[in-house]
Amino acid sequence: MNISLIGSGYVGLVTGACFADLGNKVICVDNNAAKIKDLKANRMPIYEPGLSDLIKRNVKESRLSFTTNLKESVNRSDIIFIAVNTPPKENGEADLVYVEKVSKEIALSMRSYKLVVEKSTVPVNTGEWVERTIKTFNKHNIKFDVASNPEFLREGSAIEDFMNPDRIVIGVSSSKARDILTKLYRPLKAPIIVTDIKSAEIIKHASNSFLAMKISFINAVSDICDRIGADVVEVAKGMGLDKRIGEKFLAAGIGFGGSCFPKDLTAFIKMAERAGYDFALLKEVAKINRDQKALVIKRIEERLWNLPDKVVGVLGLSFKPNTDDIRNAPAFDIISALVGQKVKVKVYDPVAMPKAKAVLKHGVKFCKDAYETARQSDCLVIATEWNEFKELDFKKIKRLMRQAVIIDGRNIYNPDDMKKLGFNYTGIGRR
Ligand code: UDX
Ligand code: UDX
Repeated sequence: MNISLIGSGYVGLVTGACFADLGNKVICVDNNAAKIKDLKANRMPIYEPGLSDLIKRNVKESRLSFTTNLKESVNRSDIIFIAVNTPPKENGEADLVYVEKVSKEIALSMRSYKLVVEKSTVPVNTGEWVERTIKTFNKHNIKFDVASNPEFLREGSAIEDFMNPDRIVIGVSSSKARDILTKLYRPLKAPIIVTDIKSAEIIKHASNSFLAMKISFINAVSDICDRIGADVVEVAKGMGLDKRIGEKFLAAGIGFGGSCFPKDLTAFIKMAERAGYDFALLKEVAKINRDQKALVIKRIEERLWNLPDKVVGVLGLSFKPNTDDIRNAPAFDIISALVGQKVKVKVYDPVAMPKAKAVLKHGVKFCKDAYETARQSDCLVIATEWNEFKELDFKKIKRLMRQAVIIDGRNIYNPDDMKKLGFNYTGIGRR
């Protein structure tokens, strides 16, 4: 099939490259000319494991190309996915100006039947608005359908998630749209849920909010574990083996970040509010997540006493491992609270340093590795569970540090081992 992805960010690029790998002809479009220039030269604008090779292979085999020319790409495609960003507005609602703009441009460009599919996470009714917008600017009265096909890709394992999904959700209002999308996804051999557009939109928001709720739940439990001397890792294991609960997304830590959970949670709360429902449960989920980051600062204070002029090393900047994405990364809330209290902050991340340097201008020293970060630090904070932090030479780390204090925000170490090594070690909700 001939496909366009409008918006070549984390979602559009991975989705486009994967569709190409399944044998389709794909054009990835972006209005950022520098990004398209980089992609044409096989320079990746993002770090995602396996993406560079996947793109290289599909470009070479002429199934994947890049352009800034939306009009031409629409004309050469039957299916057009909208994957532009939908950033939060000041009030927490999703900002849909780019979705509207792109819908209008598609309408003005199309000359034959098109299936326009929302891929970006959008509130309910966006499908209707996209349809209305296309109708308004569809001067040649071309036939078209609108569909919703939310993505469930996790950064860091996005290609694997695309190729082996738990389910594919398709929201349609015509049998033609249903047939095109089920044919497109057939090679993936995953269950396909075909439903109406509004239900598909809700499935995405409800899924992300539910996962965020699972994380906040276990973080709340970790707080209780801390207070009474239980171990949240054991508790999560004991809960997770119940198939009705499931063991995934029960890792307590410094909270969830990223471009999806925080944003989708507030957008869902807002959407419910507009529909007349006060989703207080989700408000609490967001509050618990905020508290988790403040907890780290409290733990540091408990160990270092006065913060001004103390040196704290932060290991990990991306919002999770295997990505360079720093959007809403908990590390940044912690760093800015520390800098605000006149702490000298040293940081290191295996891949997110270039993106972090563009944001963290003052009061932070960028280090070349974990050891340089530890040197003369009073405390080390593990903010992202990168594999390389799991295998450090702790005897060396201890020698390098001014005070051997570790706050393990991702529970990657065994508390007994760390105490034996002589560290003043604290995990999240661990004995
Ligand atoms: C996506 C989804 O769109 C978002 O709704 C979801 O919640 C998370 O994933 P993402 O791919 O992470 O967003 O965003 P980003 O990496 O910012 O990519 C969006 C791309 O769209 C950018 O490259 C931007 O240049 C491009 N864009 C934006 C256009 O091409 N045209 C526009 O009008 C606006
Ligand atoms: C998420 C959804 O999982 C995906 O389906 C959706 O399409 C996009 O949003 P992503 O944001 O890439 O994916 O990462 P995810 O693995 O879900 O992690 C999100 C955040 O939750 C990270 O900050 C992670 O550290 C945190 N997390 C996750 C926990 O704190 N504990 C857990 O047990 C799991």
